[in-house]
Amino acid sequence: MRLLRELSSGHIISFDSMNDYYDVSLKEYRLAEIEKTAKSNKAKQTFIKGNLADKELVDEVFTEYRLDIVVNLAAQAGVRYSIEHPDVYIESNIIGFVNILEACRHNLVEHLVYVSSSSVYGGNRKVPFSTDDKVDNPVILYAATKKSNELLAHVYLKLYNIPKVCRMV
Ligand SMILES: NC(=O)c1ccc[n+]([C@@H]2O[C@H](COP(=O)([O-])OP(=O)(O)OC[C@H]3O[C@@H](n4cnc5c(N)ncnc54)[C@H](O)[C@@H]3O)[C@@H](O)[C@H]2O)c1
Repeated sequence: MRLLRELSSGHIISFDSMNDYYDVSLKEYRLAEIEKTAKSNKAKQTFIKGNLADKELVDEVFTEYRLDIVVNLAAQAGVRYSIEHPDVYIESNIIGFVNILEACRHNLVEHLVYVSSSSVYGGNRKVPFSTDDKVDNPVILYAATKKSNELLAHVYLKLYNIPKVCRMV
């Protein structure tokens, strides 16, 4: 929303599967708010409902809209849920994330911003956490997928020079 408010022109493409892990009506409300803000700013907003694990669709979106900057907040969130539902995390956080990286690479995206998680600090005893701390001790699958994102993004940065920012939450 803040990004939209600051954008007085341009085109924002939103992509979400609108899954029901959290309240879908809240997601619909937020989408409507994004649309309203875009309209009042004269920015263009397009929403695409889809799964990031659908490589064909992700490629289509990147090719059609020629994105300059990609902000990836989409992931299967939740720490405990990953104990019983590992497949969902692999699909969204690993396959989906690699699909984004590949699409960034092939479409010469200038910048990728994505979100990691404080869960990557896992069994570390030192508090408060610092981004300089080692993150080699994940204790839950969700954390392992988030740490994997950091490693994968690092490789894509080195190999293909996609500047990335990983914001820890
Ligand atoms: N909320 C927190 O405390 C917290 C903490 C650390 C990191 N994060 C990270 O921040 C980001 C946002 O988290 P959130 O808490 O707002 O979660 P959220 O579930 O509200 O937002 C994630 C969105 O991603 C979408 N999504 C999930 N899998 C998808 C897929 N395969 N394809 C397309 N869309 C998909 C969901 O429908 C949802 O709208 C996530 O990357 C999460 O891992 C959140």
